[in-house]
Amino acid sequence: MSGFKNLRVVDNFYQTSLFFPMPAVLISTLTDDGKTTCGPYSLLAPFYVAGKDYYAFILEARNSSNTAQNLIKHKKCVINFLPDDRGTFREMVRLGWPGDKPEEKMKDFRFHLEDGHRKAEDPDGVYPQVISEALQAVECTWVDTLDNAQDTQPLPEGQDHYVLDKYHDFNGITTPYGAHFVLRIDKILMKEKYYNGIVNGVKRSDFPPLPVDYGYRDSKNFWYHKHRWMLPELLPQRETTVQSVRYAANRLQTDVEFTDEALAMLVKVPRIFLPTALKGCVKWAEENNVKKIDVEQMKIINDKRSKEKGK
Ligand SMILES: Cc1cc2nc3c(=O)[nH]c(=O)nc-3n(C[C@H](O)[C@H](O)[C@H](O)COP(=O)(O)O)c2cc1C
Repeated sequence: MSGFKNLRVVDNFYQTSLFFPMPAVLISTLTDDGKTTCGPYSLLAPFYVAGKDYYAFILEARNSSNTAQNLIKHKKCVINFLPDDRGTFREMVRLGWPGDKPEEKMKDFRFHLEDGHRKAEDPDGVYPQVISEALQAVECTWVDTLDNAQDTQPLPEGQDHYVLDKYHDFNGITTPYGAHFVLRIDKILMKEKYYNGIVNGVKRSDFPPLPVDYGYRDSKNFWYHKHRWMLPELLPQRETTVQSVRYAANRLQTDVEFTDEALAMLVKVPRIFLPTALKGCVKWAEENNVKKIDVEQMKIINDKRSKEKGK
């Protein structure tokens, strides 16, 4: 007999029928008078991670929330990742009371606000501010053209949801009470300690203490998990043979040749990525009029790749 019971899938299944680890962040947006207001959110996930002209998150929000309405009107937001202490989480929960107007909730705001890097680059522009206590913050812009959502109208005063003939699929107003926002990443800002960790190689102590919201909640409590310590798990170290790299290289439609020593530098590349890696080398060789790729040329190609990644 199976050890699993079957739970009903209902509205807000991630809160009612699952334990679902998620971030807990405060999102800053702009009010109509250019001030910054903040609301807590968890339904946030990386959406475009590679291969597009830009990188993006997706956010799911009640469409009558201040955050959703401000994004519809002013497009910009900051995703603030605050540390996991109890007072901070209590403030996040306070800011999550549905229906509070920005002036009501922000008058007792216990954090500090400062201009972000977008404002520094464009002093005449109006941008939501960053929470100074955040350990990292991401400045974003709603890509309203996706799913043709650019004509999305703000909710008229006094209405608590949308009644539309048609709802969007994944961007804009997606249901009577819901909205999704594809948020282009404009800047990632990080406190120096964690910045240094990422740039110089992260040690166990370099992970910021961020709260993890477990999805599940009841009518009394919001539950979250404090950061304790990180455990490293070694990645598998698999190597293929020079022969199998040679086999993949021989299948390329090119006159460019590889020495065995050059191919030996690719033995750690997982087989599924080998054709792409080899094609990258051939492209470089053709652009640079190189007929045979040896260790020297591979080093140049690798350098070029690391520089591109660094950018
Ligand atoms: C930790 C936490 C996470 C939350 N996550 C979400 C979420 O992902 N989406 C959502 O619509 N509401 C979420 N809520 C509820 C909103 O915070 C609530 O609707 C609030 O009124 C939004 O504030 P705003 O109107 O200033 O945007 C969350 C609340 C808390 C405390």
